[in-house]
Amino acid sequence: MKFVLYADIHAQIPQMEAVLEAVDKENADKEILIGDLIMLGPQPAEVVDHFMNVRQNVDILIGNLDMWVVDKFWETKTPKNIYHEWMLDMARLTRERMTQEQLDWLNKLPFAMTYTPEHNHNFHVFHATPDEIGDEDALPPRLTDDEMWEKIGDVDADVMSFGHIHGGYVRQVRDKTLVCAAAVGMSWDGDPRPSYATVEYLGDGKWDCQTKRVDGDFEEQAKLNENCWIPHGDRIAKMIRTGYFWNPDHMPH
Ligand SMILES: [Fe+2]
Repeated sequence: MKFVLYADIHAQIPQMEAVLEAVDKENADKEILIGDLIMLGPQPAEVVDHFMNVRQNVDILIGNLDMWVVDKFWETKTPKNIYHEWMLDMARLTRERMTQEQLDWLNKLPFAMTYTPEHNHNFHVFHATPDEIGDEDALPPRLTDDEMWEKIGDVDADVMSFGHIHGGYVRQVRDKTLVCAAAVGMSWDGDPRPSYATVEYLGDGKWDCQTKRVDGDFEEQAKLNENCWIPHGDRIAKMIRTGYFWNPDHMPH
């Protein structure tokens, strides 16, 4: 059984289209979108509409930034710094561009899914960590195996896949394989190309896990981010162009 996974579209249509074109060629049995459809980009309503009405045969999880918009975080959270304030403002402005029907649809998405291609061989999928959606915790590749194990050790799965980190990787930690599928919208690992992942169960407890990048020219999209309704859209444009987080002194995780 073959799974194809992608995450963190962040309201960026051309990167989404480029990844979906590559995904179509994978001929997977199951397609999974691992959250963060919206925020950080100019077209949240268009992305949600695509998965509500056009591309319907996809299992979709909610991400932390989807939840910021759905739960109106700006009404209850006190900004920790000026960057946090910027993000809360973007959540409010994102919500203004969406319909109630789209918000209700996002609100019903699950936090995690488990697939079992064979008895005793589970594949577990979540946005950031098995226990947390991503505002407080994550699985960045800088963690040691022991630190990773503390967060994933008690999950009954051979393979786990997630998004949120904005830099794809496959890593073996003891008897478990971690697959970061993100990100579609913008990368933070120095490679600006959109990313996705494949996870295939080969039988007898064997899995083949890969991350893949998609080529494309996203300069027009960078310009759109710079010149649209997003406050400080130049920060988003910088990430699309360079593949690095816009402010290395305040990395999200
Ligand atoms: Fe996220």
